[in-house]
Amino acid sequence: MVDLSPRTRSGFAAPQRFEADVFDCDVIGRIPADLEGMFVRVGGDPLYPPKYEHDSSASSDGYISAFWFHDGYVDYRGRYVKTERLLANKAARRQRFGVYRNPFTDEPGVESIDRTVANTAPYAHAGKLFALKEDSLPYEIDPVTLETIGRYDFNGQYKSLTFTAHPKTDPFSGEMVCYGYEATGLLSDDLFVYTIDRTGQITREWRLKVPYVSMMHDMALTQKHILFPVWGYVTSMERLKAGEVHWGWDDKVPMYMGVLPRDGDARDVRWIKGPPGRAIVHTVNAWSEGDKVYLEAPMFTGAPFPDFKPIDGSPWDPAKAKAYFTRFSFDLSSKDGSWSEERLFEIPVCDLARVDDRFKTVRQRYAFTHYHDPKLPSDIEFFQGKPRAMRNCYGRFDMTTGEIDSLFAGPTHGLQECQFVPRRPDAEEGDGYLIGVANNYKELRSELIIADAKHLKDGEIARVILPFRAGAQIHCTWLSAEDFPQLRTR
Ligand SMILES: [Fe+2]
Repeated sequence: MVDLSPRTRSGFAAPQRFEADVFDCDVIGRIPADLEGMFVRVGGDPLYPPKYEHDSSASSDGYISAFWFHDGYVDYRGRYVKTERLLANKAARRQRFGVYRNPFTDEPGVESIDRTVANTAPYAHAGKLFALKEDSLPYEIDPVTLETIGRYDFNGQYKSLTFTAHPKTDPFSGEMVCYGYEATGLLSDDLFVYTIDRTGQITREWRLKVPYVSMMHDMALTQKHILFPVWGYVTSMERLKAGEVHWGWDDKVPMYMGVLPRDGDARDVRWIKGPPGRAIVHTVNAWSEGDKVYLEAPMFTGAPFPDFKPIDGSPWDPAKAKAYFTRFSFDLSSKDGSWSEERLFEIPVCDLARVDDRFKTVRQRYAFTHYHDPKLPSDIEFFQGKPRAMRNCYGRFDMTTGEIDSLFAGPTHGLQECQFVPRRPDAEEGDGYLIGVANNYKELRSELIIADAKHLKDGEIARVILPFRAGAQIHCTWLSAEDFPQLRTR
């Protein structure tokens, strides 16, 4: 018998708790015939409810789902990521693990079991598909069946105990830069950084120390530098032994930007000090120009997530949990790095922004993300008291001119992270499709939107209608049929 707590029993984000195959999905409009590949999502779907009410939704079991595009048709598939933890819970028919990244809250007997839930991001490299979460190694997934193959350590070459949810691939060299923080164990200040070439072989390793242990959720990559934002989610042995979730917000600690030259050694890293009270959960893109390094990212000026509360006991402030596109610059020729910030748009955005991945590491023009346009209708009665879900538009943000081209998804729709898919390998920046899932809160079902990324205001080209809520998504990606030829004949 499973007793889901009231917190997890109802609403759009209630657990799905089933695996699914939908053959030949219902489509409004026409799927572009040149879309060959798979739109993949990873999120959390708790098979068992959390042991403790104060746990974070970041502890939900990983679930991978995909819309497979072939010859103008779309099939859907969803599977749990079969982590060691999920299998251990299934065998016991209960939740055996405690709160987010705190092994002191687990029941006895699970010490040797990998705690990760692999619920954050899908990522593809060297012909392999992974489900990632930053507290452990990647889980390799079969791209056709979506079944879990197992934890992956790059043939024993990868030595960090953790692996980021957000590696970056250099589109020009094809190499992936990745890292693990708390690399040698719980609360360790070790940061291990790797480059992995286009064949999947590790070619470099750097072993660094961070200024303080913080949530280093994302990074950025230029042609010359690797950037590591360090900011105000902090942790300690005291809070873990007190049974708290891993992170608490400290608005007193300064932000740091780690800048590591790609052709340098570990001793060449610089930690450029910035103001306190800043948060960069996700980056957009970065580039280097001479001695200057630029980073574009949505920036918060307070704790982004309600689940990770201020350590001084003050309440979480939703007014500060708004992200604005910001351009940071650093001058490496100066002694202190000359930290500088420029707000690019005055409208807050969801911080899950994407670019045309072929323009990563160099100066790009566009960022794509979902946001709430208050001038367009949103029917708040359907959003179940969760205004943060009420993001009614996908936008193409022109980071050079300040223009926004947007697609309105509907008054009862809350959008999730989107993915840009180029029309052809040689198409100009931003020429392609924007794909993302809309939660239809009125009909309690998920809908996949496919739009022309150059003409968002014209509305979508097609909308795939699933006959159910497809569960929560955190991040998504696209697997092209060129990179994964097995998808041509799945
Ligand atoms: Fe993320």
